[in-house]
Amino acid sequence: MLYSEKVMDHFRNPRNVGKLDNADGVGEVGNAKCGDIMKIFLKIEEGIITDVKFNTFGCGSAIAASSMATEMIKGRSVEDALTLSNRAVVEALDGLPPHKIHCSVLAEEAVRAAVKDYYDKNGIAYNPKLFKNAHECEHCHL
Ligand code: FES
Repeated sequence: MLYSEKVMDHFRNPRNVGKLDNADGVGEVGNAKCGDIMKIFLKIEEGIITDVKFNTFGCGSAIAASSMATEMIKGRSVEDALTLSNRAVVEALDGLPPHKIHCSVLAEEAVRAAVKDYYDKNGIAYNPKLFKNAHECEHCHL
């Protein structure tokens, strides 16, 4: 079986699909290699992510990874969300095939972009290094 049951579950029944009209942070990222796009919306109250939704124009692994990533950051602080790594998402999904790892990078980057948007909109100071492109996916065989 190429994909774990968790991947299949999150692909078939993705959690938190949609958008938030009055989101406090919105992040949109694209994968230059495959052309897939992911958008994440965050509702933030007193530094806590109280709601999160995502939209993905992407492959099944990207859908599963975004679904899992939204579940992992909901109810957590924005600082916690920034530490979410694509590896943690892949682990939570019980793995992805090597050539699909880059799809999980898209989820991590969308979360980070949404937090950056929240910081920018609210004039919250941050170290720009935090948002240097964290990963170049060396596994992408597209
Ligand atoms: Fe593009 Fe998975 S995100 S192939």
